Amino acid sequence: MEARHPSESLTVLTDLVLPGETNGLNNLFGGELLARMDRAAGIAAGRHSRRLVVTASVNHVAFNKSIPLGSVVTVEAKVSRAFKSSMEVIIDVWVEDRQSGDKSKANEAIYTFVAVNESGMPVPVPPVQPETELEKQRFDAALRRKQLSLVLAGKMKPHDATELKALFV
Ligand SMILES: CC(C)(COP(=O)(O)OP(=O)(O)OC[C@H]1O[C@@H](n2cnc3c(N)ncnc32)[C@H](O)[C@@H]1OP(=O)(O)O)[C@@H](O)C(=O)NCCC(=O)NCCS
Repeated sequence: MEARHPSESLTVLTDLVLPGETNGLNNLFGGELLARMDRAAGIAAGRHSRRLVVTASVNHVAFNKSIPLGSVVTVEAKVSRAFKSSMEVIIDVWVEDRQSGDKSKANEAIYTFVAVNESGMPVPVPPVQPETELEKQRFDAALRRKQLSLVLAGKMKPHDATELKALFV
């Protein structure tokens, strides 16, 4: 299968924070942001693979900054690396300053999606060809993150996570 660039899967969702989506401090509810990120990441994985995709795991989420009611929030998702049937998707969340229009990074997350056929069985996906320096760094680290996710899920023995172990020795 022909490789695709991360930019080909880029998915950008911009939306407001409405009253029904906030917590007791009038900031965006974490579960609402997780859902927005899942939606954007799922579209990105679908654009890369051109297949049905399912969320296999949420590998990392950092709620670094709260996002107040009324904010304009942009969720950007791109496939950083593809393996056999799985794809790592990195999501960056930006909040727009109402007056200046400047965007600052509020949160980030890493999800894994798997491409499946109509019966829900995993199917192969095209590889990723990173272009920018950041895309190359994310591509290189993705194998370690996959191994960590599989070890935590009990699907890989720590002994077999060669690239992950190399970080610690
Ligand atoms: C995701 C799913 C298709 C994987 O099925 P499976 O029987 O474990 O299939 P496999 O063992 O062949 O794994 C398929 C791929 O997923 C990867 N994978 C599975 N679990 C993973 C995890 N926790 N973290 C990272 N990758 C994972 C495997 O490494 C494999 O990747 P590869 O083909 O690129 O090497 C299956 O578990 C599923 O359908 N889950 C439900 C998905 C869903 O409904 N999501 C919405 C949440 S409500």
